[in-house]
Amino acid sequence: MKVIVAQNETELFRLAADLVEAEVRADPACCLGLATGSSPVGMYKELARRCREEGLDFSKVSSVNLDEYAGLPGEHDQSYRYFMNNELFDHINIDKANTYVAKGVGDIEENLREFRAVIASKTRAIQVLGIGPDGHIAFNEPGEQLYYHAHRETLDESTIDANARFFASRDDVPREALTMGIGEIMEAKKLLTIIGGSRKEAAATKLLLTDEITTACPVTMIKVHPDSTVLLTKELADKIGYKG
Ligand code: GLP
Repeated sequence: MKVIVAQNETELFRLAADLVEAEVRADPACCLGLATGSSPVGMYKELARRCREEGLDFSKVSSVNLDEYAGLPGEHDQSYRYFMNNELFDHINIDKANTYVAKGVGDIEENLREFRAVIASKTRAIQVLGIGPDGHIAFNEPGEQLYYHAHRETLDESTIDANARFFASRDDVPREALTMGIGEIMEAKKLLTIIGGSRKEAAATKLLLTDEITTACPVTMIKVHPDSTVLLTKELADKIGYKG
């Protein structure tokens, strides 16, 4: 696992964008695995700028997202489909028909079948990941076991707390989500994990300062991926005592 400590957030987002840009330049028709949450937002802004000002071309790129809340339609302003349109797709020249975010409404089992089939049909050049305060990746919550394939997940109380800031009230946060499974995340050729946002100290410590690989902290699974890069700021690295 390669760990990069950025001097500040601006540098972190620039470095993250460099890694995604490299994939798009190498194969203009590549598939990107994308993530939501506040952590990748700065990187998306930088990619949009490069598209606008430097001609970075997404016209043939496709994408698959990690997860979606169960019960929220794509038009809901807290759905991850809405988030992706708003934070990235509306600002780059990607064909939205080539972007996939699992459907949160309707027949969830059928939606999961479709989600698994889409994942299986694409080779993701790189999968972007953020992490939850409890160490979740996508919506794979800590527990006795993790799952290989896309499935329905009940959100932990700490995840509901963490995501409540985006909703009018905590009660409005969906209790379930559709998430890519750990095995499917690992199938991407490269992983790019951005540790941003707040309250990530405990999970970052487990990831960077221990040798553990544990279902109690799902992000530790990325240690076994052959091409896995982690990006964090110096501020967080100093806070947890990570020296490289
Ligand atoms: C949600 C998403 C995760 C994301 C996490 C962290 O729970 N399902 O994929 O990593 O939020 O979000 P943030 O970056 O805002 O801390």
